[in-house]
Amino acid sequence: MRADTPIGRVEIGHGIAATAVEAALTRAEARRAILIAEPMTWEVAGKGIGATLAAAGWKVERILLPRGEDAKRLRVIEKTCRTLAKLHVDRAETLVAIGGGALTDAAGFAAATYLRGVPIVNVPTTLVGEIDAALGGKTAVDIPEGKNLVGVFRQPAAFIADTALLRTLPARERRAALGEVVKVGVLGDERLLELVEEHGEAFAAGSDEPIDSGAVAEMVERCAWAKVKVVCADEHDRGLRMTLNLGHTLGHAIEAAAGYKDLLHGEAIAYGLRGAFAISLAMGLTTRERSHRINALLDRLELGLESPGLDQDAVLERMASDKKHTMGKLNWILPTAAGVEIRQDVPPAAVEFGLIAALRFGGEHRPLDSTAEATAGATADATAEATEEATESSAGHS
Ligand code: GLY
Repeated sequence: MRADTPIGRVEIGHGIAATAVEAALTRAEARRAILIAEPMTWEVAGKGIGATLAAAGWKVERILLPRGEDAKRLRVIEKTCRTLAKLHVDRAETLVAIGGGALTDAAGFAAATYLRGVPIVNVPTTLVGEIDAALGGKTAVDIPEGKNLVGVFRQPAAFIADTALLRTLPARERRAALGEVVKVGVLGDERLLELVEEHGEAFAAGSDEPIDSGAVAEMVERCAWAKVKVVCADEHDRGLRMTLNLGHTLGHAIEAAAGYKDLLHGEAIAYGLRGAFAISLAMGLTTRERSHRINALLDRLELGLESPGLDQDAVLERMASDKKHTMGKLNWILPTAAGVEIRQDVPPAAVEFGLIAALRFGGEHRPLDSTAEATAGATADATAEATEEATESSAGHS
């Protein structure tokens, strides 16, 4: 599948990476291929793409960034830009980023700022990259005060998602990424939820059958199209794009409270999704059926099952410094019966209910237990009253 969209060319397929990169460079009238990867993604993807390009007569330059979040440092950007300068890369040249979300975030930021911006082609090598991170133009690095606090919006010239690259993805990363796929399904894609219900467990367990059958490609396509639509409507995250942050208000705070250790991003989002459903139930925004369905799916994917063992206050504190605030108010993305709503008027009692669902359920207190169900019912009633009171007395406080 291939399409030219207002946010760059989108190509999705199986075994397409090298040919699609070459086609992108040819379209850009490039004189060489400048590939940016990190050591692992160079081994599993970059090297093969580079070899194909070299065999076709391209001069190939390789730039390696550190692995994972360590790439997202301003000093790494400086070093990368200095390498580009030493290679005499000019404004008409196109870079190619090959890697996961951290790599495409960092390479994207370098591309957006070097010479005030050179084009970049993103070749994600993880499922999170293929369904989210490498598409939509968010680039960023971290500073000690927080993740992704320095960055720019700049769309890649092309996004090339090759599902064959996912074969080498470790089982834990596959599973965690499905947390983000479920999130996109909850935003309003019934077929996507069905696909995860049908193929998610096998993919998470490391089977390549869902890749070979095309089920994963269909998931990637559905997520990518959902994202193209949302980003085209709201590129700079002022309205609709915020809905992509479903599960992220609690999820980001949980990741931060855990010190960005032990939990993968998608795993944190699964806790956040459970919490968001609990809040929605408490506020009467979603149905029990919808909440049960998603919690049951996350159970089957073994996401957000174990209590992360974090202190509620530590998570609350992290939420207070979340960048999803507008004019001091936190934007909550909350599930409805078939989609989501953006709300700023979530009362503290409902937030607490969500925190309890996210942090304490799991292990012996599974969300679908009858005990949990009874607790949820009782708390929901109490919270519904509290919600009413809070809405009347201090609308908008969160
Ligand atoms: N990952 C959320 C966004 O791109 O807006």
